[in-house]
Amino acid sequence: MSRALQPQLGRRIALRGALLGGGLALVTGPAACSTGTSGAQPDRPSGAARSSTAGDTTPSKPRDGTGTSPPGPAPGDEGRARVLLAYFSRAGENYHYGDRVDLAVGNTEVLAGIISARLSQLGVKHDVHRLDAADPYPDDYDATVARNVREQDADARPALANPVESIDGYDVVLVGSPIWNVRPPMLMHTFTEAHDFTGKDVHPFVTFAVSGLGATEREYTRACPGANIGEGLAVQGETVHADGPTAAADWLGRMRLPGQRT
Ligand SMILES: Cc1cc2nc3c(=O)[nH]c(=O)nc-3n(C[C@H](O)[C@H](O)[C@H](O)COP(=O)(O)O)c2cc1C
Repeated sequence: MSRALQPQLGRRIALRGALLGGGLALVTGPAACSTGTSGAQPDRPSGAARSSTAGDTTPSKPRDGTGTSPPGPAPGDEGRARVLLAYFSRAGENYHYGDRVDLAVGNTEVLAGIISARLSQLGVKHDVHRLDAADPYPDDYDATVARNVREQDADARPALANPVESIDGYDVVLVGSPIWNVRPPMLMHTFTEAHDFTGKDVHPFVTFAVSGLGATEREYTRACPGANIGEGLAVQGETVHADGPTAAADWLGRMRLPGQRT
């Protein structure tokens, strides 16, 4: 499978991305890797801290005292968040228009922060939970591609360092990840299979290089039986800072979210 990329780096030679061996191959480009996103350090997303409730003035306290559980809404709490934004993202060496880039903050984490900020603007109280792998993925791109292929081939369920304790109190789950080999990483199954999504609205969002949503909506339809799988959002990782805010605002604008200001 091979798809041409339209590079926007102003290079004289065309860069092409190819899905090879479970990832995107570096097929041309300068000998040296890029060392940043045009010098612009990606913003640490405001709402994308691990296990935080956006809009709260007091820090949320994990209920099990470990510091790893999300602040699940207590039953009967009128002001509780009914929207959960759960995402996985990997910083480190990544694909960038056929080249490589070292991301201080993963693209999906940037998008999660943009979505969280927009939710806050809309008055939608929400919890944000960054899913981390118990065995962190390597910084190295090729090593991550290889590990992902092994995990896909084995239909693995990589353990989470910080599982979401419960999604019972949430009506809407926004679930985000990068696209890895044309689908979400296997660790997203670890998350979905731990919970009952019956009756919940699930909206996937992804960042990608060439594949768009890929098999994402189909995967979540299978993985979250009984859920209403809503429209997904796909933003190209390379353009997430520029395109993310409008894409996220448009996407959220087509939803009716609990607590949303009219
Ligand atoms: C292991 C691996 C596999 C990937 N496979 C694909 C792919 O099949 N299609 C695609 O469009 N992008 C692919 N990418 C690129 C990522 O989806 C893209 O860079 C994304 O924005 C990374 O998000 P993150 O920084 O939050 O992890 C892959 C990246 C990695 C690390």
